[in-house]
Amino acid sequence: MADRPIRVLFVCLGNICRSPLAEGVFRQKVEELGLLERFEIDSAGTGSWHVGQQADARMRSTAKRRGVNLDELRGRQVGRDDLHGFDHVFVMDSNNLHDTLYLDPEGDHSTRVRLFREFDPDPDDYQVPDPYYGGPDGFDHVFDIVERTSKAILERFREIYGL
Ligand code: 4NP
Repeated sequence: MADRPIRVLFVCLGNICRSPLAEGVFRQKVEELGLLERFEIDSAGTGSWHVGQQADARMRSTAKRRGVNLDELRGRQVGRDDLHGFDHVFVMDSNNLHDTLYLDPEGDHSTRVRLFREFDPDPDDYQVPDPYYGGPDGFDHVFDIVERTSKAILERFREIYGL
């Protein structure tokens, strides 16, 4: 395929719960459609605490139980280069939006940065809740949100890009 890949980045705070899950779920859906070579998919955190670390064990175990393996992913911090390198940047909440747009003070790339749940058919308050300090139910709740929103985003991409 001659087309260059569609580059998609998911961003949260720590890059150990929400955004690695979105990366893993979205990649799996792309793979199921045989479209993996059309995409470059990654995730990052606005914070640097978990750089180089595996996703949170609770998130990995919820994802694995529901059929998605996150074991290979490692945390990294989002940077200025990501804003012009990626075609689509999906952030998990309004704090992530603020912190990501802070990297782009001229607003050159701001139209590519969107709240993930703008594409959720049942968007509630448009925030993917941070499960890090909560109980185990929070991880399943986040999985539900990420699953249906990733599906909706991929459907939108198939329309836009004619996939
Ligand atoms: P995430 O969750 O942003 O979904 O990866 C968090 C993980 C770690 C921290 C905060 C949120 N933390 O403060 O270390």
